[in-house]
Amino acid sequence: MSKNNFSIGRLDVAPMAVGTMYFGTTVAQQDAWACLDAAHDAGARFLDTANNYAFWAGGVGDESEDTIGRWLHRRGSSVRDEMVIATKVGARPAVPDGGLDDVLGLSGRAIAEQVEGSLRRLQTDHIDILYAHIDDRRVPLDETLGALADCVRKGQARTIAASNLTADRLRQALEAGPRPGYQALQQRFTYLVPAPDADLGPHVVLTDEVRAVCEAHHVTCLGYSPLLSGSYTRPERPLPSGYAPDALDALHDVATQVNLDAGQTVLAWMVNRAAPVIPVVGVSRPEHVRSAWAAVTTPLDAEQTRRLDDARHG
Ligand SMILES: NC(=O)c1ccc[n+]([C@@H]2O[C@H](COP(=O)([O-])OP(=O)(O)OC[C@H]3O[C@@H](n4cnc5c(N)ncnc54)[C@H](OP(=O)(O)O)[C@@H]3O)[C@@H](O)[C@H]2O)c1
Repeated sequence: MSKNNFSIGRLDVAPMAVGTMYFGTTVAQQDAWACLDAAHDAGARFLDTANNYAFWAGGVGDESEDTIGRWLHRRGSSVRDEMVIATKVGARPAVPDGGLDDVLGLSGRAIAEQVEGSLRRLQTDHIDILYAHIDDRRVPLDETLGALADCVRKGQARTIAASNLTADRLRQALEAGPRPGYQALQQRFTYLVPAPDADLGPHVVLTDEVRAVCEAHHVTCLGYSPLLSGSYTRPERPLPSGYAPDALDALHDVATQVNLDAGQTVLAWMVNRAAPVIPVVGVSRPEHVRSAWAAVTTPLDAEQTRRLDDARHG
């Protein structure tokens, strides 16, 4: 077994987070609940959602949190206590049918209101990890950090975290003061490295530079979209533009050695490498949960992780 638990601040977390982005929109409630049951059964008791999932997929942004909240209600308080629940605020469109150009953002008032909404939808009295989903440069960093710290002080959040920051902005936030600071950072990350000019929309990549800032400040790294939507194993899903297949030979060699498929090997590599990154794995079927869990609990030796580390940088 690889390391079974990672920590985020004082919280122990599973070596993967279950990505629930499409729960309640393209993933029907019964399928989402089957995934959540499978995650609980396997021990993958770490859920990742946001207050805007998935407004671009026929929803308004309530759907993923609502689906999790109804599952928690159905399963009861003992199950709630066994789960680590992370949600994100800031990137919810300010008006229905709006987009990411005009979001509720991260002012003090907006954070307070959004957290109330998330707690209500999740049917819980606290969020384990509360993320600032974006970098809202319209608001002074001090105001955002103060509002997030208030949520911790009031018991609404256990830990705060950030997502989609550049190295400079992360450093600025971490050096801002004595309040509870960010304990984790969630960025886009997988084995293949996107071209520097790849158009990834609002997604911000976990670069070596960002990673170094995290390491210096003991911030846990999480990586979203680790499977590139299944492109490593599903021929009908080509790699997204901006990703080249150059380093795939090494991945397939190691996959054969450890008897995992290529996508699973990416997940195993993420948690086993010297600079670990907890994968946030999107799922729509219980088999996806079980496959990811098998991957993150498979050990890779130092030679295998080094080979993959070296190959991805060409
Ligand atoms: N912080 C942020 O800004 C941010 C941004 C994006 C995502 N996220 C988080 O990261 C999570 C994952 O993101 P993602 O959906 O882009 O990433 P992903 O993990 O790269 O892709 C997930 C998709 O891959 C397919 N898949 C899963 N397991 C598979 C398996 N064993 N074999 C083959 N295909 C498999 C499924 O597609 P099908 O369902 O189509 O079968 C699944 O929906 C989200 O749910 C969300 O929680 C955060």
